[in-house]
Amino acid sequence: MHKNAIAAVKKQLEKDIESGNPNWNISPETAKYLVTILEQYKPMRVLEIGTSTGYSALCMGEVLASWHGVLLTIESHEKRFATAKKNIADATLSNITQIKGHAPEILNNIEGTFDLCFFDATKYEHLSYFDALKKRLNPNGIIITDNMRSHEEALAEYKKMVEADPQFESELVNVGTGLLVSTYIG
Ligand SMILES: C[S@@+](CC[C@H](N)C(=O)[O-])C[C@H]1O[C@@H](n2cnc3c(N)ncnc32)[C@H](O)[C@@H]1O
Repeated sequence: MHKNAIAAVKKQLEKDIESGNPNWNISPETAKYLVTILEQYKPMRVLEIGTSTGYSALCMGEVLASWHGVLLTIESHEKRFATAKKNIADATLSNITQIKGHAPEILNNIEGTFDLCFFDATKYEHLSYFDALKKRLNPNGIIITDNMRSHEEALAEYKKMVEADPQFESELVNVGTGLLVSTYIG
């Protein structure tokens, strides 16, 4: 992993974000918050749903590498998947595994448990991700869901269900487009 290579790719992606964000990447502010959470809990195995061109994956992959943590990230769109592949290769990060496919169809094919999941894909499938992954979270595992403020209506039912789940403690965080941070308390 070469810090300069990562910084160069991140800089290019941040330029894209500033100039209209055509690939719906998270903001640098949200990335900074995710990194803070990762540094606090030091998860070893992280799953992201919605890679796009790889900005959040690079930000998480970089910090995860400091304690040999790994990231698995899912993307269904052919072109964005390929762009992310190039970005991850250019950034010289080897702890990121890209998985191509439609998340609800492939989640069961991915083995193992997770310490943290980041949901950043279509807003209408989150409950299916939550149901599939909550039983695969390690103790004190965390699910972070993006777009809680920007897509408040589309995610209202999801928010209601997650907040009512007695196995989770959830907090709405007013960063970027709004994050729901849900911790598995068993
Ligand atoms: C908001 S963007 C992700 C941004 C990315 N996390 C970042 O910050 O760089 C959402 C991505 O999720 C992908 N996506 C949407 N629904 C999906 C699904 N069911 N399975 C896999 N990918 C999906 C879209 O193609 C899109 O590229």
